[in-house]
Amino acid sequence: MSEIFSGSFTQQEPIPEDAIEAALAVLRHGRLHRYNVAAGEVGEVALLEQEFAAQMGARYCLAVASGGYALATALRAVGVGHSDTVLTNAFTLAPVPGAIAAVGARPVFVEVTEDLTIDLEDLAAKARQAKVLMLSHMRGHLCDMDRLMEICDAAGITVIEDCAHTMGASWNGVKSGRHGAIGCYSCQTYKHVNAGEGGLLITDDEEIAARAIMLSGSYMLYGRHLAAPGPEVFERVKYETPNISGRMDNLRAAILRPQLRNLDAQVARWNERYRTLEDGLRGTPGLTVVERPAAEVYVGSSFQFLLLDWAEGAVQAVLDRCAARGVELKWFGVPEPVAFTSRYDSWRYADTPRLPQSDRILAGIIDMRVPLTFSLEDCAQIARIIRAEASAVYQSG
Ligand SMILES: Cc1ncc(COP(=O)(O)O)c(C=O)c1O
Repeated sequence: MSEIFSGSFTQQEPIPEDAIEAALAVLRHGRLHRYNVAAGEVGEVALLEQEFAAQMGARYCLAVASGGYALATALRAVGVGHSDTVLTNAFTLAPVPGAIAAVGARPVFVEVTEDLTIDLEDLAAKARQAKVLMLSHMRGHLCDMDRLMEICDAAGITVIEDCAHTMGASWNGVKSGRHGAIGCYSCQTYKHVNAGEGGLLITDDEEIAARAIMLSGSYMLYGRHLAAPGPEVFERVKYETPNISGRMDNLRAAILRPQLRNLDAQVARWNERYRTLEDGLRGTPGLTVVERPAAEVYVGSSFQFLLLDWAEGAVQAVLDRCAARGVELKWFGVPEPVAFTSRYDSWRYADTPRLPQSDRILAGIIDMRVPLTFSLEDCAQIARIIRAEASAVYQSG
């Protein structure tokens, strides 16, 4: 009898009790809007921003409605607008090119490597095509950030980091989101802290911070922020920065603050699960495990492996056989995008040429969520199932 996995790949852990208590306190007093505070009170959103800025070692932080909103706000805050071009990863998800399109700009996609990171040679070759790089640390894979910053600094490119999958990660001891001018994070249910929806933006640049705060819908209430520049900086930008409302509210901030305090412990739990999957899958014939560089501290909240150069039918057979045994895998090579999966050629508004290197790699990427509701034994079982099914298909081919 072959074993069947019965866990849910989309079930996150419950919200911790201290976060529930904090949320109830906000619900009981009713002041949910971030600027609705009693005399002398500091709101949950302002406290969240202050704490996240300190946690990341950043001067400024802004909490917003979503990670995608943080990305679009970052682009606006550095002056990207109509008919500009923005470099970004060919391997990412729809909110990234979507944020670029939201400001009227056009994405220029950079190839992906077999390490699932941005191809730095292709980036260097395309460096003249844009003044901004929106770097997506897709599925938590960090490229050589030192080399990337050298390329971008030499070309005068401003880097905005999409850290939706790297909250809690670092490269060579520098936290993800602290290499570029701006780091953007998502607090959506499937990410590393769960507020349902939400985003965080950090920067050390006072004008970027002031513009982002005005953009998010601060009216003239920016004085209620704790992780913001002084009023003289707002004087320079407040009449020329439009309000594009996308604030975070006190309820979400209350839920997030206790979760952020526990981030490192959660990262350790994710990585135990990641390593269990890695150990179980390494050495499977025809299957490539993505090797992680020593300089990278990652957060194993998802797992990818490659079935590189496999025939489409064979990949589909692995997916079907795993699904029949309860293991839900996503495939970036699927001809029509399903659920959260999509590819650069699905974003037809970008009107992009084909990227042969990325096409080959995307055709082989298999992706899996790793929620913390999975035990280590669950992860070992999932790896056994994938190993058995991939081996069976490979050996019959
Ligand atoms: C790579 C990546 N960047 C950005 C986002 C945007 O985050 P949000 O859903 O909070 O808008 C997501 C969300 O799925 C994502 O996967």
